[in-house]
Order: sequence, then structure tokens, then C-alpha cells
Amino acid sequence: MNRRPISALPVLVLLLAVAAAGWAKGVREPQQPETQAQPAGAPRKAALDSEDPCLACHAAGTPGLVESWRLSRHAAAGVGCAACHTPSASDPSGAEHFGAKVTPVVSPQYCAACHPGEVAQNRRSKHAWTAFIGNLRPYYAEARARGLDPFSQETARRLDPDEMARRNVSSMFPDSGVLKATGLLERPGFSHNNVNLGCAQCHGTFVVVQPDGKLAGWPNTGIGRVNPDGSLGSCSSCHTRHKFSVEEARKPETCGQCHLGPDHPQIEIYEESKHGNIYASNGESWNWDAPSGKWGPEQVEAPTCAACHLSGFGGQVAATHDPGERLYWELQPPKSVPQWKNAEQVKDLVLERVPDETQAAEGRKRMKSVCLQCHSPRWVDGYFDEFDQVVGDYNLAWDYVDRLLQEAYAQGLAAKDNPLDEPPEIYHYLIWHHSGRRWRMGAAMMGPDWTHWNGAVDTLMINLGLMRGELESRRQLQELRKARR
Ligand code: HEC
Ligand code: HEC
Ligand code: HEC
Ligand code: HEC
Ligand code: HEC
Ligand code: HEC
Ligand code: HEC
Ligand code: HEC
Repeated sequence: MNRRPISALPVLVLLLAVAAAGWAKGVREPQQPETQAQPAGAPRKAALDSEDPCLACHAAGTPGLVESWRLSRHAAAGVGCAACHTPSASDPSGAEHFGAKVTPVVSPQYCAACHPGEVAQNRRSKHAWTAFIGNLRPYYAEARARGLDPFSQETARRLDPDEMARRNVSSMFPDSGVLKATGLLERPGFSHNNVNLGCAQCHGTFVVVQPDGKLAGWPNTGIGRVNPDGSLGSCSSCHTRHKFSVEEARKPETCGQCHLGPDHPQIEIYEESKHGNIYASNGESWNWDAPSGKWGPEQVEAPTCAACHLSGFGGQVAATHDPGERLYWELQPPKSVPQWKNAEQVKDLVLERVPDETQAAEGRKRMKSVCLQCHSPRWVDGYFDEFDQVVGDYNLAWDYVDRLLQEAYAQGLAAKDNPLDEPPEIYHYLIWHHSGRRWRMGAAMMGPDWTHWNGAVDTLMINLGLMRGELESRRQLQELRKARR
């Protein structure tokens, strides 16, 4: 993991001052980028290089970064470097930086000064909590069990969340079962670093300020990152710095960075759908920049991920930064249930999962109010009825599969000690986590190939078929052994 300092060591400061002097020589003419930054008629508010010390130095040293900022709405509105990078009193990641205090870890807390609504919505979403729900869950559960505050830097330094994730054996880390069985998991030389470069890149790290000021777990822009100031999430997972553009967040590629692959192939499903097809052929000519609430069917012919899940599409549904607000089902757990309550409605979103039928029905209504701007009620209701039937079929299949494994344990056909090292356990996992999710999610978002071939067929014919075959062989072997005795 990368650990980067903001060092206050005098020698380093000297070196940096020299480097900065070198940067300063290369400062470019300000006129050219500035004209690009200012929309016609906007006041020339953006700080001039000469007036803002951050800009003066960084325009020379990191021109790419400053250029992105110049193209942003922030530059046009006069929101300069210090507005986001000045550390709050409670943030241990702040350090002296050429005469000012600066933090490189700009958490959502810093955006809240000007965007309180977006930050509050994001904070109650599963996006913000997903490092704790995912890769940091072993740490989180341990901290809670010991009565420690899981958000605190102190607890993280004591328990080492990263190491706990790498050594945990559970279906959360599906490779861990076989790794344990082979002895590799405990081998000192085996770092199990795919947890860092896999899970943590999407879900987020715990950013820990070390006693020497170095940052563990940074850089990282996972969507549920735990920040040194105790806040959750990273706005730059969807609005990359330093443009922080709304256009980028509305395009499906942004979501597809995480929402892809064998266990949650939403971007592939979208590409297969008619909606995705229309986006691929005509999307370039659409208006992506209209303000929230004004962006709708008059700007785009087909919806993107954001249009259905987040945007104030056509002004007919309130914009949100909590994608849970428009869902009926939880499609990712082993058995689908109506949406769980969010982080505002339960004390602990990680440990308390409470389905709420009423809220889920409201979510369905909100989602339909997006569809109904382009489709008739009969089209929309008909589609959702069929989707719900698929979820029902999957749930019945899951009950069967889960019973099969529990019976196998009871009959001694598989051993419970290591949850994920024997083929019946592996098929059971794949049915829930891979093919069964594809089956449900393909149906939710109009991807017929994902619903049928990659979904139902992989679940029933391949994974369940092979699981039954494996158990049958084990049963016959067991009988043979009994007969020999
Ligand atoms: C005299 C030149 C100079 C000035 C003035 C300056 N910086 Fe920097 N900044 C640097 C250099 C050089 C680096 C890279 C070395 C480092 O990480 O300290 C850097 C790095 C950074 C980083 C990344 C830190 C990290 O740990 O990677 C941030 C954030 C930053 N500057 C923000 C600011 C802000 C905000 C201001 C104004 C308050 C500012 N800088 C003023 C030269 C400068
Ligand atoms: C709207 C808020 C905002 C503004 C304005 C802003 N930054 Fe940042 N900056 C961020 C965020 C968010 C990150 C991502 C860091 C993180 O939290 O992981 C970041 C990261 C950085 C980094 C470290 C990342 C890297 O790629 O090296 C530097 C250096 C930096 N900013 C410098 C600047 C400078 C210089 C300016 C002014 C031109 C500026 N920032 C303006 C929010 C902002
Ligand atoms: C000091 C106040 C301030 C801070 C801090 C701030 N913003 Fe902004 N933000 C603004 C203003 C002002 C606008 C422009 C509104 C406009 O042009 O209508 C804006 C616009 C935006 C937009 C819309 C851009 C677009 O393309 O329409 C996004 C996204 C955004 N901010 C994200 C962030 C994020 C993320 C952070 C924290 C990393 C942040 N802002 C911090 C003031 C701020
Ligand atoms: C490519 C990005 C990516 C990687 C890598 C990744 N995940 Fe995820 N994970 C996701 C997405 C996206 C979802 C949401 C799935 C959905 O709701 O359809 C998710 C869902 C989950 C969930 C279910 C959350 C819930 O509310 O039930 C858990 C637990 C989880 N991931 C843990 C992990 C762990 C642990 C790792 C590493 C072993 C990992 N993930 C690797 C993107 C990723
Ligand atoms: C999951 C992706 C995602 C994340 C993470 C995210 N945003 Fe957004 N954001 C969007 C989308 C999509 C829109 C456009 C909404 C619309 O079309 O109505 C948007 C719009 C905005 C706007 C413009 C709203 C307006 O009225 O024009 C602001 C400001 C903003 N986001 C701030 C933030 C802040 C602050 C954070 C971190 C707390 C954040 N966003 C995190 C996806 C995201
Ligand atoms: C940096 C990775 C990342 C990006 C980018 C991202 N997501 Fe997610 N998303 C996740 C993870 C991880 C989860 C699983 C959260 C959980 O349940 O723990 C998730 C969950 C979701 C959920 C299920 C929420 C719920 O309450 O069940 C939806 C819907 C969603 N994302 C939509 C989007 C959309 C739309 C975008 C783009 C605008 C997007 N995501 C961008 C990682 C990401
Ligand atoms: C046409 C609208 C539409 C588009 C476009 C769309 N979705 Fe969905 N999405 C849905 C619907 C409908 C559901 C199921 C809602 C329910 O449960 O009632 C869903 C479900 C999901 C879930 C499942 C959450 C869970 O329970 O695990 C995720 C994650 C998700 N979408 C992400 C995305 C991403 C990422 C994209 C773009 C690549 C996308 N969606 C595009 C409508 C859409
Ligand atoms: C911005 C407009 C728009 C929105 C919003 C929208 N759609 Fe569509 N949808 C279209 C267009 C355009 C087509 C293509 C129609 C055609 O084939 O002529 C389409 C096609 C479809 C199809 C046919 C799929 C196929 O493969 O033939 C279904 C089903 C569908 N939409 C359902 C939905 C549902 C459900 C929602 C809401 C969750 C939704 N749509 C939201 C515009 C939209």
C-alpha cells in the first residue's frame, strides 16, 4: 500500500522550496487556460496565479491538476484550492505546507460547507458505508464486539483493519477458504494483497494517519473510504478531481468502473439493453450539462444509470445521492428481500439489516416515475411484474440450494469447519454470489442474455447440476465405505 507523507522536516521543506522555485520558472501564461475556464459572461472571479500562492506554485508544478480545476464550475465560482484543502480542527491529516495548513484527504465533510444536502444523502447511503459493509467488516465487527469506536484513528491503529481483512476466512473473501486449506493464507511471505488492489479500490480503505505523519490507505478513492476526520465516503469516486463535473457522473462508464464483472455486471447488462444501445449510438450529441431537475427526457433519448438511480430526472423525481431510495429489492444477498432501512433509520447499517416493505414500495414508485416520462403505464407495470416473478423464482431456487448444503453438513457429506474449500460449498457460493445475482440483475435492467444464459442457466444447469452430482458421488462413496466396514 502507498504511504505518502506531508512532511514538515526542514530538509524536505528546503528541497521542496527548491523544487517549487523550479516549478515557478515554468509558470505558463495565465490568459489561455483562463478564457477556457470562464463561461461567457461569468465574472472573472477565478483567482489569478499571482494572487493565490497555491495556484502560483501548483500551476508550475502540477499543471494538469490546475488545468482541470480551471475547467470546473468551482473555478468559475471562485472556489479556490484552500476552500477544500484547509484542514478542519478535528482532522489529523492536516500538516504545514509552505506557510499554510493543508490536507490532501478532502473528505465529504469539506464539501458539506457548500453542498450539505448531497453530503447528507450520501452519508446515509450504502455507498458511504460500503468499506465497513465489505472489506473492513471483520475489523468493524471486532471493534464493536470490544466496545471500541470503529471510526476512530486510535482503534484502527490498534486493530489494523487491513491485516484483519487479509487473514479473514469467510465468504466475504471467497479465495480465503482454498488459501487456508493449502496453507498459503498463513505463510508469512503470502501478502494476500488482492484484497487491497481489489476490494479496497471499489469499496474503500481506512485512511490512517501514522505517528510519523504518513498516510496508510491513501491514495484511494473507494466509494466507502473511511476518512481521518471520521467521515465516510469519497465524492471523487463519481466526480473526479479537479473538474468535479456533473456530466461525468451522469455517464454510465463512471458507475461501470465498479459495477461490472461476474458478480454485479450492471454495465454489461446496460450495454446489452436497448437503453444502452441508444446511448452508445446517440449519446455523444446529448446535452449532459443541464442543472439537476432540468436534465430529463428533453435532453436524453434513453436513460443512463444516473437517470434511473440518482438524477432529478425531468424534475419528476427528487435528485438523490442515496441510490437505495429508488429500489424495491435487495438483489445482492443470498435471498432477496425488500430494501433494508438506511443508515438514518437504523443505528448501525453494518450490523442491522431490516427490510422495510413500505419504504421499498415507495422506492418502486420513484423508479417508475422515471420510466413513465418515456413509457406508458401498461408497459412499465408489465415489465416490473415480470421482473418480480424472476426474483420469486430465484428465491425458491435458493431455498432448495441452501437446504441441500445444510443437509449435506448434517449427513457428513461436507465439513463445516472451513466454509469455502469443498466443491458443494463453492457451488453454493457461486449460485448466490455470481450466477444468481446475474439472473436477478439481468431481469431488473433489461438484459435478456444475462437473465437467461449467464443467469438462470449458469445457476440451474451448471452450478446446481454440478452441486447435485458432487453430492451424489459423495453419498455413494459414503455408502461404499459403510458397506466395507
Ligand atoms: C512553494 C510551492 C507550493 C505552494 C505555495 C503550495 N504547494 Fe502544494 N505542493 C507543492 C509541492 C512541491 C508538492 C509535492 C510535495 C509534497 O507532497 O509536499 C505539493 C503537494 C501538495 C498536495 C499533496 C500533498 C500530498 O501529501 O501528496 C496538496 C493537497 C497541496 N500541495 C495543496 C496545496 C494548497 C491547498 C496550497 C495553498 C494553501 C499549496 N499546496 C501551496 C508546492 C507548493
Ligand atoms: C472542490 C474541492 C477541491 C478544490 C477546489 C481543490 N481540490 Fe485538490 N483535491 C480535492 C479532492 C477531493 C482530492 C482527492 C483527495 C482525496 O480525498 O483522496 C484532491 C486532491 C489534491 C491533490 C493530491 C492528489 C494528486 O493527484 O496529487 C493535490 C496536490 C491537490 N488536490 C491540489 C489542489 C490545488 C493546487 C488546487 C487548486 C488549484 C485544488 N487542489 C483545488 C478537492 C479539491
Ligand atoms: C466553498 C464552497 C464549495 C465547496 C467547499 C465545494 N463546492 Fe462544489 N460547488 C460550489 C459552487 C459555488 C458550485 C457551482 C454552482 C453553479 O455553478 O451553479 C459548485 C458546483 C459543484 C458541482 C456541479 C458541477 C457541474 O458540473 O455542474 C459538483 C459536482 C460539486 N460542486 C462537487 C463538489 C465536491 C465533491 C466538493 C468537495 C470535494 C465540493 N463541491 C466542494 C461550491 C463549493
Ligand atoms: C470492481 C469493484 C469491486 C471489487 C473489486 C469488490 N467489490 Fe464488493 N461490491 C461491488 C459492487 C458494485 C457491489 C454492489 C453489488 C450490487 O448491489 O449489485 C458490491 C457488493 C459487495 C457486498 C454486498 C454488500 C451488501 O450490502 O450486501 C459485499 C459484502 C462486498 N461487495 C464485499 C467485497 C469484498 C470483501 C471484496 C474483495 C474480496 C469485494 N467486495 C470486491 C464492487 C466491488
Ligand atoms: C455514485 C456517484 C456519485 C457520488 C459518489 C457523488 N455524486 Fe454528486 N452527483 C452524481 C450524479 C449522477 C449527479 C447528477 C444529479 C442529477 O442529474 O440530478 C450529481 C450531482 C452533484 C451536484 C450538483 C447538484 C445540482 O444541483 O446541480 C453536486 C453539488 C454534487 N453532486 C456533490 C457531491 C458531493 C459533495 C459528493 C460526496 C458527498 C458527491 N456528489 C458524490 C453522482 C455522484
Ligand atoms: C468506486 C466504486 C463505485 C462507483 C463509482 C459506483 N458504485 Fe454503486 N456501489 C458500489 C458498491 C461497493 C456498492 C455496494 C454497497 C453495499 O451494499 O455495501 C454499490 C451499490 C450501489 C447500488 C445499490 C444500493 C442499495 O442501497 O442497495 C446502486 C443502485 C448503485 N450502487 C448505483 C450506482 C450508480 C448509478 C453509480 C454511478 C452514478 C455508482 N453506483 C457508482 C460501488 C460503486
Ligand atoms: C432503465 C432504468 C435503469 C438503468 C438505465 C439502470 N438501472 Fe440499475 N436498476 C434498475 C431497476 C428497475 C432495478 C431494480 C429495482 C428494484 O429492486 O425494484 C435496478 C437495480 C440495480 C442494482 C441492484 C441493487 C441491489 O439490490 O443489489 C444496482 C447495483 C444497479 N441497478 C446499478 C446500475 C448501474 C451501475 C447502471 C448502469 C450501468 C444501472 N443500474 C442502469 C433500473 C435501471
Ligand atoms: C429517457 C426515456 C426513457 C426512460 C426514462 C426509460 N426508457 Fe425504456 N426505452 C426508451 C427507449 C427510447 C426505448 C427503445 C424503444 C424502441 O425500441 O423503439 C426503450 C426500451 C425499453 C424496453 C424494451 C427493451 C428491449 O430490449 O426491447 C423496456 C422493457 C424498457 N424500455 C423499460 C423501461 C423501464 C422499466 C424504465 C424505468 C425503470 C425505462 N424503460 C426508462 C426510453 C426510456
